[in-house]
Amino acid sequence: MADLADKLNRPLLDAAGLTEGHRLLDLASGAGEPALSAARRAGPDGLVVGSDLVPGMMAGAVRRARSVEGPAPTFTAADMTALPFADAAFDGVTCRFGIMFVPGVDSALREVRRVLRPGGKAAFMVWGPRAGNGLFAEIGDVVADHLGEDGSLDPLFRFAKPGLLSEVMRAAGFAETSETDLTPVRKAPAGQPFWRAALDMSFGHRLGGLSAERRKALEQDIAKRFDAQAVDGIVPVPSHARIVVGW
Ligand SMILES: C[S@@+](CC[C@H](N)C(=O)[O-])C[C@H]1O[C@@H](n2cnc3c(N)ncnc32)[C@H](O)[C@@H]1O
Repeated sequence: MADLADKLNRPLLDAAGLTEGHRLLDLASGAGEPALSAARRAGPDGLVVGSDLVPGMMAGAVRRARSVEGPAPTFTAADMTALPFADAAFDGVTCRFGIMFVPGVDSALREVRRVLRPGGKAAFMVWGPRAGNGLFAEIGDVVADHLGEDGSLDPLFRFAKPGLLSEVMRAAGFAETSETDLTPVRKAPAGQPFWRAALDMSFGHRLGGLSAERRKALEQDIAKRFDAQAVDGIVPVPSHARIVVGW
């Protein structure tokens, strides 16, 4: 995802209204995105707190933060449905590809409203439809060919329908919402397993029990699909994300 990071983070931070000196909370930061970019934008007078349900993810984000120059975020483990922060503690909240994994999405959204100052904005990035997300679509199709379809990718696309997350946010008390679609094309190197992290992340639970031969055959089919799309050594991988902002 690194090559797409700027194309995704910049508009997400814009949507949250992040400027120098702001206090921003990033939810479900995983390995630290977009908290790391946010800290650079908030500058030395600002405060960026990255958070994730899984403490191990936060340990990785802290390691990454050490290797970047300039202001770094603070990272802390936190469940977004029960945030350990005071009311109105933040000027903005971001969450990149996280809200779809939370069963209690209403509780999370109410917590986000509680920790936002009046007038502060919450910006969520979610995936658009599977068909527009070449990485997951191709991997998902090959896994389905080999092992059958089991809906493993469904949570990723929980808010793919336009307007759906806005509706849920308004029900949780956001007065206004707006949505913007982004369709950046990732330029991936042909002949490289750039797809393996996504395969492991989405299907690791199904692949663990496969024999080495079956796994190799599955991976060869994924590689063949992407390599067949290469132009001058580059595989153009379309993606479709949506920013949903509420205030
Ligand atoms: C796909 S990752 C996104 C990571 C990062 N924001 C990015 O865009 O690369 C989803 C993250 O959501 C986190 N997550 C899931 N449920 C959560 C919850 N209830 N509260 C906080 N984080 C949660 C997971 O631990 C995981 O790190």
